[in-house]
Amino acid sequence: MNKFFQLLVVIIFLVSSLSIFAIEMSTEEIIKGRKAMFKQNYSYAKKMSAAIKKDDKEMITGLAIKMSENYKKLIEYFPEDSKSGFKTEARPTIWEKKEEFNTLMKKAANEANDFSMMVNNLMGDELKDIQKKMIWSQCKNCHEKFRMPH
Ligand code: HEC
Repeated sequence: MNKFFQLLVVIIFLVSSLSIFAIEMSTEEIIKGRKAMFKQNYSYAKKMSAAIKKDDKEMITGLAIKMSENYKKLIEYFPEDSKSGFKTEARPTIWEKKEEFNTLMKKAANEANDFSMMVNNLMGDELKDIQKKMIWSQCKNCHEKFRMPH
């Protein structure tokens, strides 16, 4: 009987720990989470432009890396059940053209990362022009197709 109870305790423990691992982010957490990351990337991009004016290369590099990390995480933030609610501005085209959307997100991540590695070899206007191409143009490219007018 003692053994039986021990086994029961072990089983209850296993089942309850499994269900703890199974808890996933709610739709609310997902939508709010992705909005927060986009907002953060906007602030990184603005800080980057300011750092370019000051020629603060260390700052520029750090911001580009953080931006790239956010884009990499963002790919996971568009599951099927997050198409609406919580003031999302995501357009249904994201799920109709998921491959294209993910490709743009990966491109944005890669270009931000590539940019971070080029910073030290660029100067003045060159730095500004390339940041425009590799960082700022990604936003518009994706928003035109995949974000609602706001
Ligand atoms: C690959 C696609 C993609 C790229 C690249 C992208 N965005 Fe977005 N962005 C979106 C989508 C989709 C939304 C809508 C998210 C939602 O509301 O659920 C969004 C929302 C936003 C928001 C609103 C967040 C909020 O609080 O509602 C801001 C600000 C923003 N993006 C800025 C930027 C900036 C700045 C860049 C470039 C540096 C950028 N985005 C690059 C797809 C993208």
